[in-house]
Amino acid sequence: MAAPNWLSDAVLYQIYPQSFADSDGDGIGDLRGIAEHLDYLAWLGVTAVWLNPCFVSPMRDAGYDVADYLTIAPRYGNNDDLADLADKARTRGIRLLLDLVAGHTSDTHPWFVASAHDEDDHRYIWADSGPGGRLPERFVRSPGPRPGGYLPNFFDFQPALNFGYARQKADEPWRQGTEAEGPLANRAALRTIMDYWLGLGVSGFRVDMASSLVKDDPSFAETARLWREVRAWLDRAHPDAVLLSEWGDPAVAVPAGFHADFFLHFGGPDPGRPLLSLWSNGVATGPAGRDPEACYFGADGQGNAGTFLTAYRDALAAIGEPGHIALPTANHDFPRLHAGPRTSEQLPPAFAFLLTFPTLPAVYYGDEIGMRYIPGLPDTEGSISVVSSFNRAGSRTPMQWDSSPNAGFSDAPATRLYLPVDPDRGRPTVAGQRADQGSLLHLVRDLIALRRAYPELGPAGSLEILSDAYPLAYLRGGRFLVVINPSDRDRVLPHDRPKLAEATAVKQTGVRLDQETVSAGPFSFGIFRL
Ligand code: GLC
Repeated sequence: MAAPNWLSDAVLYQIYPQSFADSDGDGIGDLRGIAEHLDYLAWLGVTAVWLNPCFVSPMRDAGYDVADYLTIAPRYGNNDDLADLADKARTRGIRLLLDLVAGHTSDTHPWFVASAHDEDDHRYIWADSGPGGRLPERFVRSPGPRPGGYLPNFFDFQPALNFGYARQKADEPWRQGTEAEGPLANRAALRTIMDYWLGLGVSGFRVDMASSLVKDDPSFAETARLWREVRAWLDRAHPDAVLLSEWGDPAVAVPAGFHADFFLHFGGPDPGRPLLSLWSNGVATGPAGRDPEACYFGADGQGNAGTFLTAYRDALAAIGEPGHIALPTANHDFPRLHAGPRTSEQLPPAFAFLLTFPTLPAVYYGDEIGMRYIPGLPDTEGSISVVSSFNRAGSRTPMQWDSSPNAGFSDAPATRLYLPVDPDRGRPTVAGQRADQGSLLHLVRDLIALRRAYPELGPAGSLEILSDAYPLAYLRGGRFLVVINPSDRDRVLPHDRPKLAEATAVKQTGVRLDQETVSAGPFSFGIFRL
């Protein structure tokens, strides 16, 4: 289970390539644009960047519908630009991770087109139509000469690659075993794809819908067998590379072969709840039908950090060692931290928590300056999710660099941008916040620097929870006290450790330590050395 050393103290940063920086003025971000901003990322202190898919695609799901795994989409540049980006990042101490869409392709991928013309091709899951031309549930009618239909994985235009079924049924012949020819070819293809990009200098992958590969696999035993096989190959062929899963259940995903998994807005025994119980404040993306629940980082102070802490401990117990559980501020599928009723003054305690907890922190681009989730945007490249009908476009708007037109994202006319820039005149920018020592950006940078300077604040340090209410208080590595109050009123925590009063503040806003109490003002946090 050991991970390459670099991962355990990594600070991840996710870039949605469409929206980070446009170097050629077409209104869409690109790889050169990212390369031009590597000095910013190095200044911020992040150590690994994950890029959403940037491969040839009809872009009906923003690139998660891959039509050629081995070629960069022209709108982002070319394969040399990618190699160049990985190289330039590495010289700044930043590793580059790509997104591996393992479970499905676009319906325009040549593999699928061939499969729709050849009844003996089993790279995808095909079923014949039954009486009255009816297809089995969830199957989509064949677009080619092949009769019957195929199983999609997400949107209908994303046919599931065939990795086999965990259970066979005599009357459902499309349920092939995991060792059938199609599944074997697909597993080999995954290795070819990974090998190619790792050879160009990338350091690993975030694996899309990682739990979806083997069908009808309720215990994930066969899916885990598949990923452990991939992992064994990776450990031999590319021992420094990592696989992070989009699974939402680290307790299952890490034993299944991933180096780390994210707590997400879905996944796990109580789907999505660990993450939602921290951040989700009514701009919902959780499973449909779920009652909204107060979150811990809500101003009203009605949440409960215990939900997350219990899930963290349970996951850790299953995994056995810290450093494998990633906690994102947001991603391209769910709202940014600054969403709905949450104001910018509520963001500092959230970042103080993120960067002093033993999870792997993942900062979604723009969250470090407090960019907003923007409601009401048009459905863009499949941004309205099939699962929740949540519009993901609001989390995907252009990075706000400075006060020039289009916030410095692009020279294109505003009408040609991939998505509009936040129209708020007071929108935060990198340039504005770099010039202001009291900004969120400087705080995030300082917190990252602290985490890197003191391993006790990362996965290596022990964790002792002193209070899981308001304020949240915990000791890291027996040496640092962290106090977090995300609520809008003063909070007092009685304690019986008079020595706490002697601790030195390393970084704090509005927290006071006395012999018998810790007092935390509204939206405050404190990191103290004992
Ligand atoms: C993952 C991606 C999401 C995409 C879906 C289908 O959940 O994060 O953006 O739409 O998979 O590939």
